[in-house]
Amino acid sequence: MTDVRIRKAHMGDVKGIHALLMGCAAKGLLLPRALSHLYRHVRDFYVAEMPDGRLVACCALAPTWEDLAEICSLVVDESLRRLGLGRRIVETCIRDCRELGPTKVFALTYQEEFFRHLGFSVVDKDVLPQKIWADCVHCPKYPDCDETAVLLEL
Ligand SMILES: CC(C)(COP(=O)(O)OP(=O)(O)OC[C@H]1O[C@@H](n2cnc3c(N)ncnc32)[C@H](O)[C@@H]1OP(=O)(O)O)[C@@H](O)C(=O)NCCC(=O)NCCS
Repeated sequence: MTDVRIRKAHMGDVKGIHALLMGCAAKGLLLPRALSHLYRHVRDFYVAEMPDGRLVACCALAPTWEDLAEICSLVVDESLRRLGLGRRIVETCIRDCRELGPTKVFALTYQEEFFRHLGFSVVDKDVLPQKIWADCVHCPKYPDCDETAVLLEL
């Protein structure tokens, strides 16, 4: 895993990020994202790249409010799971968040245990009103969200 490099994403990564996300979205593990959305938000993303240039993970840090940012669009290639790559890319986003300013990072997830291993705690979604006003109300599942909210105070 040490030969996998984690770096900021650039425009040329967007189709690779899209492929990673759509593979998981088809299994209902996360929400699909349109290419147009990814181009607009590419600066939020980190990717993990193999020495041959293949993208094997992605994750975004999306600022939500003055004191709050979201970890989202997190995927590790199925063949490379449980090797520490998910932890590395999320911790990279958390370092980014410390530099940016928000002191709280959250995710909405089906992978509660993974986030617990990284120090997050389960919280009630009501503690994230800015996320609900901005995004959740546009989600096809709203108001019957079956994801768990997890939060880390930095
Ligand atoms: C969730 C996901 C990103 C985890 O990536 P990963 O590279 O397998 O995770 P890591 O190997 O870095 O695991 C970090 C820690 O979490 C634990 N962990 C990982 N997945 C876990 C799971 N499903 N259940 C319990 N613990 C888990 C690991 O044992 C490890 O613990 P440790 O560091 O204390 O020993 C990956 O499973 C994935 O891409 N899933 C599909 C997409 C998805 O659900 N994304 C989340 C959207 S919010």
